[in-house]
Order: sequence, then structure tokens, then C-alpha cells
Amino acid sequence: MGQNEIDIFRARQDTLGCKSVLHFNNAGAALMPNQVLDATIGHLKLEAEIGGYEAAKLSHDAVEHVYDAASSLIGCQRDEIALIENATRAWDMAFYGIPFKSGDRILTSVAEYGSNYIAFLQIARRTGAVIDVIPNDEYGQVSITALKNLLDERVKLIAITHIPTNSGLINPAVEIGEVAKQAKILYLLDACQSVGQMPVNVQTIGCDLLSATGRKYLRGPRGTGFLYVRQNVIEQLEPPFLDSHAAEWVTKDQFKIRTDARRFENWETNCAGKVGLGVAVDYALSWGLENIWAQISSLAETLRTHLSHISHVKLQDLGLHKCGIVAFTVDGQNPQEVYDQLAKQKINVSVSRASSTRLDMEARGLASIIRASVHYYNTEDEVELFCEAITRIASGVRSKKGL
Ligand SMILES: Cc1ncc(COP(=O)(O)O)c(C=O)c1O
Repeated sequence: MGQNEIDIFRARQDTLGCKSVLHFNNAGAALMPNQVLDATIGHLKLEAEIGGYEAAKLSHDAVEHVYDAASSLIGCQRDEIALIENATRAWDMAFYGIPFKSGDRILTSVAEYGSNYIAFLQIARRTGAVIDVIPNDEYGQVSITALKNLLDERVKLIAITHIPTNSGLINPAVEIGEVAKQAKILYLLDACQSVGQMPVNVQTIGCDLLSATGRKYLRGPRGTGFLYVRQNVIEQLEPPFLDSHAAEWVTKDQFKIRTDARRFENWETNCAGKVGLGVAVDYALSWGLENIWAQISSLAETLRTHLSHISHVKLQDLGLHKCGIVAFTVDGQNPQEVYDQLAKQKINVSVSRASSTRLDMEARGLASIIRASVHYYNTEDEVELFCEAITRIASGVRSKKGL
């Protein structure tokens, strides 16, 4: 093993779940490393033993550390990070803080996430803002030429999903950032599925706003996430909700909103989750994001190659460069049935349905797909077992044998 490679044996030893499941659902929620589990449970125990407020005091430094860890991870300042309970709410806090007016244009991607698109529709209905979908290029990713052609002075926001929920596609976030910067347009990146999977740096990408979740490729606890807001944008956005953490009640009739990104947070919070998230980010950084990405992309490529040789299996990933998410369908089999048969063999995947990425799925005539998502702690042996199971399913032979 080279110095920069991942010690998969150690990674698996650190991961309780590797003993019981074949987990290809890392884009759903990855298996937590034991370090994250221990830190999260440790804080919960402390709450039970000495009281919630008292435990928060003792874990103060561990929670504050999450801001440093997240800022190291994505290359920003700690004051530009807000810790929020999931990626959707993090994204919402930024999006709903933008003062849209009638005629403003929102440019987005074909593979935009369902919850984001619902928010666009709501704001369009409320304000008269207009949604424009940037066509894809020949690889099925956001076309930079089409994006440039759509620009005018009414474009208020470019909101893109970096890696869509339903496939291995990686949208060209850096190139989009260059266009946004040149045109001086606010750029919101949904990095829910990329943070923790690959190096993501907000300076390189040039986004003003970025949302991320804890439970997916970062391997943190559920109910955790964060929002990045570029320093010079923070005070331009008024959060849709305020409380006495986000703002101060200064006189009977006045309040003052915080000047850092914590204006997008709320007071009551899951301290144990935050402590766990900090450990998860440190753990990812200790492996190195370049190493994690190299391992994931190579394993996903192996999986794609193997699947492509199984008859009746159709790969459904778009994009020039692909990530650790492998989307496919099996001829004549409903993805949910495939999921159920795999689950019986303790193999975890997800089914992604049209409602999560309606524009993309409808354009391709897909109602749902099977999503197998690998992480660096998965192995080539697991890929082989997985493909054997898919071969049996694809040939209509239901396995009675567990793994
Ligand atoms: C692209 C994308 N954005 C946002 C989300 C929502 O993340 P969360 O469940 O943390 O709110 C998901 C979840 O699957 C996603 O795939």
C-alpha cells in the first residue's frame, strides 16, 4: 500500500456495519465510523448523566471545532459556516433569503433535486420570478455554452446540483463558477452528494453559497449538515426565519441580525449530532479527500464495468466524468423488486424515483432507477458479490442464499 492510499482493512475495522451488510447505499446514508458513533453516543450519555445544557457546556469546544473542520474541508473561513440539520434546510435558508422580485430569473440544471425545484416553484408563484432550465450538453451535464446564452441582466441566481440524487453525473461546477463570477451572478451549489466524496473547494468552484449534509459521503450522523455563505454575501441575505440565536432583540421594537453565517442557524439543536459531525469531518480529512475520491471513483468504475457485462442490465449514468453513484435498471424488473431481493441478501442500495429529479427522469422516460453507491471502505470482493446477486436477479433466478 502506497503512502497516499487508503488502508481499506483499517477503514473496515473502524466500521461496525461492514460486519453485517454489504452497503452500497452511501448516497443514502453511509456507515458511520466507530469514532463518530462513540463521540455521538458519548455526548448523548453526558446529556443523560449531567443534563442537556450542562453537557452542551462541556462539549462547547467540540461543537465549535465543527466550524473549523468544515471550513478546512471546503476551503473557507469558520464565520462563513452555519451548522444546519440537513442539506435541504441549509439550502432553503440561503435560497429563501434571496430577495426575488417579479421577472428575476433563476437558472438551474436538468438534474436539479426535487426539493430545490419545489422551492423554485413556490418562489416563482409568490414573486413572479422565472425558472429557466439550462439544457444539457452532449454528455448529459450542464452545457456551459447554453448557460452563457441564457445570461442577461435579469438573472438573479444560478442554482445547480453538483451531483444529482439519481446518477453518477458530476456537473461542471468550476466552469459554472467562472461564468457566474464573470457575470457577477449569485451562485448556489447543492453539494449534498459531493462533499465527503471528492475534494470540494469553494474558492476553486467560485460559488457564493453551498449546502452539504452530514450523513452521506461524510459518514456523519443523520440530522446534520451545513451551509457555506461567502463573507460578502452574508449580510445581503435575510434568513427566512430568525430567533434569538440568529438575531438579538435589542430594544422593544428592534432586533439586530448576526453578521456571520450563524444568522442562518437556530438555537435549539442536536448537540450530539454536531459533535459526531466534527469527528466525521476530521476522520475524512485524516484519510485525505484526494485519496477518498481516487478510491471511490476507481471502485465505481469497476462496478460499472462489471454491471455492463451482465445481460439485461442497463447503466443509467450520464456525464463526462462519473462519481461513486452507479445508477442502473434491469430489463423487465421493477427497481423496487430488485431492491427487495437485494435487501433479503443484506445488500443495501436505494431506489431513486422520478419525483426526486423529475425533469431528468421524464426526459429519459424513467420512472425509477436502482442506485448503488460505493465508498472507500467497500471492496472489490463486495463488487463481485453484488454483481453475482444482480446476475441472478437479471436472469430471474431468486437467490435463497444469504451473503
Ligand atoms: C442532490 C441532493 N440535494 C439535497 C438532498 C437532500 O439532503 P438532506 O436529506 O440532507 O436534506 C439530497 C438527498 O438525497 C440530494 O441527493
